[in-house]
Amino acid sequence: MHHFNYHDQELHCERVPLKKIAEEVGTPCYVYSHATLSHHFTVFDGAFEKVPHLTCYSVKANSNLAILRLFGSLGGGVDIVSGGELYRALKAGIPSDRIVYSGVGKTLDEIDYALRENILMFNIESSQELAFINERAGKMGTRARIALRVNPDVDAKTHPYISTGMKKNKFGIDVDSAIQDYLKAKSLHNVEILGVDCHIGSQLTDISPFVDALRRLRMLIKKLEESGIHISHLDLGGGLGIPYNQETPPHPTEYARAVMEEMEGLHCTLIFEPGRVIVGNAGVLLTKVLYTKSTPSKNFLIVDAGMNDLLRPSLYDSYHHIQPVVRSSAESRVVDVVGPICESGDFLARDRSLPVVPEGDCLAVMSAGAYGFTMASNYNSRPRAAEVLVKDDQYFVIRHRETWDDLIRQEQVPPIL
Ligand code: LLP
Repeated sequence: MHHFNYHDQELHCERVPLKKIAEEVGTPCYVYSHATLSHHFTVFDGAFEKVPHLTCYSVKANSNLAILRLFGSLGGGVDIVSGGELYRALKAGIPSDRIVYSGVGKTLDEIDYALRENILMFNIESSQELAFINERAGKMGTRARIALRVNPDVDAKTHPYISTGMKKNKFGIDVDSAIQDYLKAKSLHNVEILGVDCHIGSQLTDISPFVDALRRLRMLIKKLEESGIHISHLDLGGGLGIPYNQETPPHPTEYARAVMEEMEGLHCTLIFEPGRVIVGNAGVLLTKVLYTKSTPSKNFLIVDAGMNDLLRPSLYDSYHHIQPVVRSSAESRVVDVVGPICESGDFLARDRSLPVVPEGDCLAVMSAGAYGFTMASNYNSRPRAAEVLVKDDQYFVIRHRETWDDLIRQEQVPPIL
């Protein structure tokens, strides 16, 4: 469920017309619905209310401070993958005992920062990282709480770039050798084993890979218990997909039912790291049509948002539904919606039938709340877009549009020039 609907031919976010935001804040602009964000978080988290659990929202999907604050206020924790994400999470007021830290390449500075802040758990991705974290914790006179991220070797059946749980992927520790690393961890003085972790991929539309992974983790937990290693936390990662187009991913309650069934009899606190399923359909990217250009082979809608603003179509060939902000014509046309960037890969949609939209009118690129702004760049020296949060009939700018000064702020010309 989301809160982007037409009233009198005008697309609204909750009770605010998107046209008003486009006029007052400008375009391109990300717009998020507070009601949708809260609803999605509450539905996901509520689906596990019967079991001890912690929903650690995955910051990489959308890391705006306001959004992190909202989830924190709803009782959520966060899953982070960098020192920068830890900094954001703390600034947003997320308590450190609700923070889990994944990622294959944690640096010394990042590890020390997380140790100082006493986060809930490091999800460790290699034996080398285990040794290093133990050493750093020792230097600091503390103990790191850890889980090993296990690679269960299951095919998530999603786009290869966002599939992470197969043997050939760089993520996690091979499920069959994990026991050795756990035994090693048990012998180390500065780590405390808390859990087992896995994350098999993103945008999963089928429940079976999750269930396969869970079964393998359960077997591992049993073996660990037999070796005297008690597991109190089981982190199942994120990955639940959303409908962008015709997909029919499992509802969070269906996912929860399957997970709880598989977990029957295990006395662990469950941790989840959902990203996309919470924020994906809670946001749109507003963009203005600059020119309508027809060539002998194509009709182009040239808009003011490009692949620097929303990379997903260019990078993964992802589908994002596109709707006019004001419906003015019943007539449709097959068009390519393209940005201003000097690359042929700069498109938001190709060969798409869209209602005819005049130059100067705006489009809403739907389902852009996850991996939209967070993957934006300054390519072609384009300032990054503004972000807006709508609540009921009010809206708030939660990130100002960057300026040309922002683009050069960190640069300097050396005196030799
Ligand atoms: N936990 C870990 C360890 C992850 O690596 C990820 C996502 C998540 C949780 C959250 O997954 P989600 O619930 O959002 O599926 N840029 C790509 C998605 C990359 C996902 C990376 N890891 C996209 O735009 O589709």
